[in-house]
Amino acid sequence: MDDPLTRFGVAVPAPLLNKFDRIIEKKGYSNRSKAICDLIRKELVENDWAALDKETVGIITIIYNHGVREIDDNLTELQHHYYSRIVSNLHVHLDAHNCLEVLVIKGMVREVKKIADKITSAKGIKHGNLYLGTLGKDI
Ligand code: NI
Repeated sequence: MDDPLTRFGVAVPAPLLNKFDRIIEKKGYSNRSKAICDLIRKELVENDWAALDKETVGIITIIYNHGVREIDDNLTELQHHYYSRIVSNLHVHLDAHNCLEVLVIKGMVREVKKIADKITSAKGIKHGNLYLGTLGKDI
């Protein structure tokens, strides 16, 4: 069941609100309330990432050339080392040489960041990125 709604008044400079309205219209929002709720939730989720002992889910993406010596073995070794945290992975052969790997990691923010650092800094990784998400319990 949805939580009860609270109405509140907000004073916003007109030009700022006009810009906001244009953006949310482009994004497909049908009203400001949903757009503002999403902004608040985004802020709550980002705030959680500062709490290192909070459980979260992270998505790591890495791009690498599979022809680089030992890179596949090293990545497999790392993923087996952190098997209890890496809940899923996806491998895409982008072209004849480049691979994209997407790893979903569940754990404390501290652990997720540590694993992401280890993997994205591994030799031969051309590009690595961590997106921190949320388990969705508190928003
Ligand atoms: Ni590949």
